[in-house]
Amino acid sequence: MKIAVLVSGGGTNLQAIIDRVADGTLANVEIVGVISNNPGVYALTRAANAGIPAFVVSPKSFPDRAAFNLALKEKVESLGAELVVLAGCLVKIPEILIDAYPNRILNIHPALIPAFSGAGFYGLHVHEAALARGVKISGATVHFVNKDLDAGPILLQKAVEVREDDTPETLQRRIMEEAEWKLLPEAIRLVAEGKVQVVDGKVHID
Ligand code: GRF
Repeated sequence: MKIAVLVSGGGTNLQAIIDRVADGTLANVEIVGVISNNPGVYALTRAANAGIPAFVVSPKSFPDRAAFNLALKEKVESLGAELVVLAGCLVKIPEILIDAYPNRILNIHPALIPAFSGAGFYGLHVHEAALARGVKISGATVHFVNKDLDAGPILLQKAVEVREDDTPETLQRRIMEEAEWKLLPEAIRLVAEGKVQVVDGKVHID
């Protein structure tokens, strides 16, 4: 399965996918391109180091949002992507791309959706809110992307303990290491192997 990976920052989730393709866990997956909305981010370096075509498609480069949205959709389609993976992607995914890839866009969110998700809940903000609420577990979620933010059908979730002495940074790191970097490649594997169906907004795994 050909996948396009959309990134915005450090690319540690991208790296997890690259590593699983390299070690054969994702044997039938090919990363046909990495697209960042930000130039100069380390995710682009990770792509280059892995010999993967990398592109910057930034809203700032277009006269208006509609032009950016079209350019992003056309870039993904030009790569022949069959699945789009949002790996630390912070740009709003255009509806025209969601329409072109129904239940074929995956996102990793660093919390147990519906907790700590939706507008404003990204990056460290997610973990700051979890610690402020005093939850005893948090975790990560992989879901299909629909037109509602962080609200598409849930494919995989993994819980991670919250420790008394956690800071947002230590919690983020543990969730990335113990959950995100495992869940996203596993979700891609399940989809690539045709083991996932979405029926009435619920995900069924064979
Ligand atoms: C991390 O906060 C991760 O939880 C979220 O996006 C941020 C950066 O991820 N998915 P990455 O290192 O760029 O993959």
